[in-house]
Amino acid sequence: MGNKKLSAIKADALVLGCEQTDKGPEIVSDGIEPVDAKLAAQVKDLAGQLGISGALDDVHKFPAPDGYQAKMVVLTGLGKPRVTGGYEPESLRRAAGAAIRELNGSKSAALALPTDDDEALSAVAEGALLGAYAFNDYRSGDAVKTPVSDITIVTPRQRSLRAKAAFNRADILANAVARTRDMTDAPANALYPASFATQAVAAVKGLPHVKATVLDEKQLKAGGYVGIYGVGQGATNQPRLVTLEYKPPKAVGTVALVGKGITFDSGGISIKPGAGMNMMIMDMAGAAAVLETVVAAAQLGIPVRVLGYLCLAENMPGSNAQRPGDIVRYRNGKTVEVVNTDAEGRLVMADGIIDAVNAKADVIIDIATLTGAQILSLGHRTSGVMGAPDAMRDAVAYSAKQCGELFWPMPLPEDVASELKSAASADLANVNGDKAGGMLFAAAFLREFTAGVPWAHLDIAGPAYNTKSAWGYTAKGGTGVGVRTLVTFLENFAADGGNYAWATRQTLTPPSAVIDDDEESEAIAA
Ligand code: BES
Ligand code: MN
Ligand code: ZN
Repeated sequence: MGNKKLSAIKADALVLGCEQTDKGPEIVSDGIEPVDAKLAAQVKDLAGQLGISGALDDVHKFPAPDGYQAKMVVLTGLGKPRVTGGYEPESLRRAAGAAIRELNGSKSAALALPTDDDEALSAVAEGALLGAYAFNDYRSGDAVKTPVSDITIVTPRQRSLRAKAAFNRADILANAVARTRDMTDAPANALYPASFATQAVAAVKGLPHVKATVLDEKQLKAGGYVGIYGVGQGATNQPRLVTLEYKPPKAVGTVALVGKGITFDSGGISIKPGAGMNMMIMDMAGAAAVLETVVAAAQLGIPVRVLGYLCLAENMPGSNAQRPGDIVRYRNGKTVEVVNTDAEGRLVMADGIIDAVNAKADVIIDIATLTGAQILSLGHRTSGVMGAPDAMRDAVAYSAKQCGELFWPMPLPEDVASELKSAASADLANVNGDKAGGMLFAAAFLREFTAGVPWAHLDIAGPAYNTKSAWGYTAKGGTGVGVRTLVTFLENFAADGGNYAWATRQTLTPPSAVIDDDEESEAIAA
């Protein structure tokens, strides 16, 4: 943070916001001093020729004007302002992230974007930190990326406890998202169930009030975890279940998070076509998001008991692989015919959900790269959220909106759910043989295991892994989607005293307001 004159700021790059107006692009003041008139006029003059629009993701770099200490000026599009004034926090996040991404190779950047309130301030910080990401584990030589490492935020706002807490939250979230991206990008020869479990145990080591336990394949078999064991039985890299528990002293209630951790999804005996199969290293993004949500919750000290279930298996064909037509009996008594071994996510998730029910969680949220149908219905960037009752689903959708992730509420229609029955002798089949409504069918299947506990299901198949170009603060490859929504949900759940009805009341303050004013003035007085 800092509030020096713009021309006096020493950095490789000075980042300014540019808004989209009816009269063309206009540089926006950061609230400390008026925009440099000469620079503003130049930008207006050359906007057409330089292709500057001020739209989101429209980023342009120039040599800084004479008299500036910074070497470069970067204009980043803010889009159109809100009708009520100021900018959507998500626009600020994207503008900051897009600028920082464009500065790959530079060391330092100072962002002088409009920060009218602490929410805007933390959005700029979060976007910049999320944008300063690269996965370098397998790059060498010139291919190694060097994201901006020194980020300064220029703001007229006073240093306050509230601002400090907002920065701290942004930092914790950005790191959790970055680690989720790292795991999502890690190839299956490095990240397999046992190594994932080891990594999870190491990630929570030393965190306050967090415990981790791991079940190996023998324990899974003996314990009747037929979903995880069955999906994983064909692979040399055998399955694991990691259970995490974060139990702070004054918890308002228990939220269980269940994550799909298929470290590689070949489809199994119902093998996938070869083209694009390499992408199936990302099929554990849900489990990674759960792990990092637990880590972030503990680091933030959110007063909610959180249980995390990482359902880890490699889905491979092999002489011991599960066969189409196999029937498994879950611990809740339900039998499932495995009609298609490529619909494996729902099979492993059912075991995690049963554990969450048995642990008497107040609510259950599962997160999974579950269906290609999610991408067909909502596209590459928008995740689906389903659940029961509707208020639980909407509470997650509302949390997503607060933190700027794209999740859209979807129904569990009766006609789709009525097709769960197996044509053979089992209670349920894992597919209904119909592509239509595939995301909803998978959700309806999972609901069968929730025993009426309030539950939400997040299908992140497309959004977890960006196969298109980078945009805003989102890199190519693993995106870390879900972590921010889950953390925001936990904060809301805590603020609401262990309830999830806030979406219908809509009375919560934004997530950045983590310190109330009384506390702040007391702390300042102290
Ligand atoms: N992991 C896939 C879903 C997926 C697809 C994730 C594309 C990310 C990108 C899942 O296990 C799967 O194979 N689902 C099948 C289900 C079908 C057999 C009912 C699918 O969506 O095709
Ligand atoms: Mn599959
Ligand atoms: Zn899968």
